[in-house]
Amino acid sequence: MRLLVTGGAGFIGSNFVHHVVAHTDHHVTVLDKLTYAGNRASLDGLPGDRVAFVQGDIADAAIVDPLVADADAVVHYAAESHNDNSLHDPRPFLDTNVIGTYTLLEAVRRHGVRFHHISTDEVYGDLELDDPARFTEQTPYNPSSPYSSTKAGSDLLVRAWVRSFGVAATISNCSNNYGPYQHVEKFIPRQITNVIRGIRPKLYGAGANVRDWIHADDHSSAVLTILEKGRIGETYLIGADGEKDNKTVVELILTLMGQDPGAYDHVTDRAGHDLRYAIDSTKLRTELGWMPQYGDFEAGLAVTIDWYRQHEDWWAPSKDGVEAFYAEKGQ
Ligand code: NAD
Ligand code: DAU
Repeated sequence: MRLLVTGGAGFIGSNFVHHVVAHTDHHVTVLDKLTYAGNRASLDGLPGDRVAFVQGDIADAAIVDPLVADADAVVHYAAESHNDNSLHDPRPFLDTNVIGTYTLLEAVRRHGVRFHHISTDEVYGDLELDDPARFTEQTPYNPSSPYSSTKAGSDLLVRAWVRSFGVAATISNCSNNYGPYQHVEKFIPRQITNVIRGIRPKLYGAGANVRDWIHADDHSSAVLTILEKGRIGETYLIGADGEKDNKTVVELILTLMGQDPGAYDHVTDRAGHDLRYAIDSTKLRTELGWMPQYGDFEAGLAVTIDWYRQHEDWWAPSKDGVEAFYAEKGQ
């Protein structure tokens, strides 16, 4: 297959491209605007006869159209992805997540190309900390932030293009990813690189908020499974039973890095901070036979810490700017 992967120079997209090259013989063309979050170096070392790179905006129909025409399937990762940025300046989230997705949908509709849309569990809002419930494909949409509301909007566009125009699309909503190539603005890499730099980790509020962690490589194998076996028009939730509260994760990072587990600061909480996400991925596991491979979060985190220790050249150029952004907000 010839895959067009949007956002393939970002965190999860680049992990997917590495996964595809290692586990299939598909050819990949990456379309990525290289915003602050995209890094061409995340694709270093991949063979030139398997992976091509095009710099461009998914909202630019003139760039998108010929690339889609040339593909057997589009896997759509490109997005503005960070909640804190969406609270500061929502506009790029509308441009990329809504108009960008619309532009891609019109192109796959014109050319009859299979489409897989990457989305997030945040479209479902949040769960109470003491609620045993988890999100399923039937949970009503209830997004909280400008980021998650634009992702919800993009999911609904995909559903409408399936129903109204017969576009051959699937959607997946995944929980929080960790692993290599994640931007230092995000929780886990921010704390790892803080410790490397001798800065105390920063926990929003009391740190009781729960996230359901999955290794990015497990997300990639799930997406490939859906691409190969998923039923058109269906949504699949992706998760690996990895619920942890933020305080536990910070303490674990400090312990794994040989520091006092209490050596972190509580900082200003995020506005509208979602309490808890939790995924029930029964449908994906039973219907399509997918299983996560990274069951041990502590082991996966230790490998991720090593990756950031060994790739300071990859993350250092972003670190000071990110910390200055957070410092302005008391975070
Ligand atoms: P990221 O911010 O690390 O990467 C986004 C990539 O998209 C970057 O390479 C950026 O340059 C590119 N991009 C942004 N705007 C673009 C545009 N207009 N045109 C072309 N390229 C553009 O994001 P991520 O964490 O890798 O997330 C990727 C996808 O996965 C997003 O759709 C996100 O909603 C979804 N998702 C993320 C998580 C998570 O834990 N990070 C979990 C579930 C779903
Ligand atoms: O659930 C999937 C979502 O996970 C994706 O859709 C998003 O693209 C992705 O960014 C992520 O969203 P979160 O807001 O959950 O991730 P973030 O890494 O920003 O924060 C994780 C938790 O850690 C959250 O409860 C906020 C908290 N936090 C974050 C930062 C950056 C801190 O306590 N301190 C921090 O410095």
